[in-house]
Amino acid sequence: MSLEVLQGQRALVTGASSGIGEAVAIALGKAGAKVVVNYITGEEEANRIVASIKASGSDAMAIRADVSKEDQVQSMFQQMIETWGSIDILVANAGVQRDADFAEMTLQQWQFVLDVNLTGQFLCCREAVREFIRRGIKPELSRSAGKIICMSSVHEVIPWAGHVNYATSKGGVNMMMQSIAQEMAVKKIRVNSISPGAISTPINTSAWSTPEAEAELLKLIPYQRVGKPDDIARAAVWLASDDSDYVTGISLFVDGGMTLYPGFREGG
Ligand code: NAI
Ligand code: BGC
Repeated sequence: MSLEVLQGQRALVTGASSGIGEAVAIALGKAGAKVVVNYITGEEEANRIVASIKASGSDAMAIRADVSKEDQVQSMFQQMIETWGSIDILVANAGVQRDADFAEMTLQQWQFVLDVNLTGQFLCCREAVREFIRRGIKPELSRSAGKIICMSSVHEVIPWAGHVNYATSKGGVNMMMQSIAQEMAVKKIRVNSISPGAISTPINTSAWSTPEAEAELLKLIPYQRVGKPDDIARAAVWLASDDSDYVTGISLFVDGGMTLYPGFREGG
């Protein structure tokens, strides 16, 4: 038996040309999966990540698609299925912020974030589920018919002033994930989320890139370090593998304790 827990499985990671998606794509590849590196901008980065996955011994391909557009999502899945036969793992990771004080927030800022973060995950989850149901379980690959990992956030539970659109989208991801999980468990499809705390990536550079900003951020993190994309990638490999076969409908917080109400360490 192979030591690589995802040997022979086919994964698609959205928004994989940077940050958490990049780390997840590389980790899934190292665990033996073939990986679609989805991107919307950053073709060069996507190709570099594909090359790095290939160098680690797995197959990979880059596919450009805007996850908020139904036709683009459908043709991305079609291309993957035509090339590799099916899909076993979806990591719905692509996400954006468009921050604004609530009174100043435009409909465009609200809609854009909801379109990418929530509708984008809906479209990708639906295509994956359709294929999982069509194909069913292949016991030589996995005990389940398919695995979905939604990239949520601590802000699915922590309200976030100045980011109402973003926090709302992640709250929606949580209820969407649990509802799909409840509906699909009988089909042996597992659906879970990862809810990262502050992870140093391009989405939040201003929160960690200067010593002053980092010191402020650490006040919110009991474990006293800013997270790295690999912290999330390791959790993703576990949730995608049969090691978590009895786990469905959970949101796995990987946050150094950010959700532990750190203000109450001394207050209250
Ligand atoms: P990032 O900005 O490096 O990654 C987001 C990726 O999504 C980028 O590669 C971007 O090009 C892609 N993307 C944006 N719109 C897209 C679209 N319409 N179609 C396809 N791809 C699109 O930032 P990061 O941190 O790696 O974000 C990844 C996910 O992790 C996001 O869903 C984010 O909300 C979530 N997250 C990040 C945290 C952090 O502290 N970095 C904490 C909690 C959640
Ligand atoms: C946001 C980051 C933020 C982190 C912790 C994430 O969902 O995208 O900008 O640093 O939550 O607040």
